Amino acid sequence: MSTPDKLTPSSLREAFGHFPSGVIAIAAEVDGVREGLAASTFVPVSLDPPLVSFCVQNTSATWPKLRSLPALGISVLGEAHDEAARTLAAKTGDRFAGLETVSNSSGAVFIKGTSVWLESAIERLVPAGDHTIVVLRVSDVQIDADVAPIVFHRSVFRRLDA
Ligand SMILES: Cc1cc2nc3c(=O)[nH]c(=O)nc-3n(C[C@H](O)[C@H](O)[C@H](O)COP(=O)(O)O)c2cc1C
Repeated sequence: MSTPDKLTPSSLREAFGHFPSGVIAIAAEVDGVREGLAASTFVPVSLDPPLVSFCVQNTSATWPKLRSLPALGISVLGEAHDEAARTLAAKTGDRFAGLETVSNSSGAVFIKGTSVWLESAIERLVPAGDHTIVVLRVSDVQIDADVAPIVFHRSVFRRLDA
């Protein structure tokens, strides 16, 4: 560490990018149409009760469609999902292009070929600056231990062994 950097949204964005994270898809069907987004702010929170969280931008156009639904699907993206993560975050076009999904009767949507599926319901929304912390209660879990995760670090998708 040499001289301190100026604290600006852009230096903070860069600083946050140094913290490596996994990437999830959070998705559900809205009137038969799949809606969702990619998020790197997923955090496991509590085992009992089973809670997880992620942060959503207050400017998100997709979140208002998801936040009143009874169930949301969380899929932990695998190392082959670098393109999928970008697609799931695209401003235009089909966010699920090239992805195989499974829709539960609850409406939760999961991405095939991912390591973990968590069916969840919103427990609490906590305003936090330009984001909202979304706390979700998990109702169902499915794990495929053979799928290695993708890692998002400094705006690049990496693999654990890279
Ligand atoms: C790797 C990656 C991680 C992202 N993480 C988040 C996140 O944690 N929270 C969030 O609100 N958006 C995140 N985004 C952006 C969303 O996926 C999406 O692009 C954004 O919500 C804008 O689309 P919308 O207006 O339809 O919501 C991420 C995008 C990428 C590519």
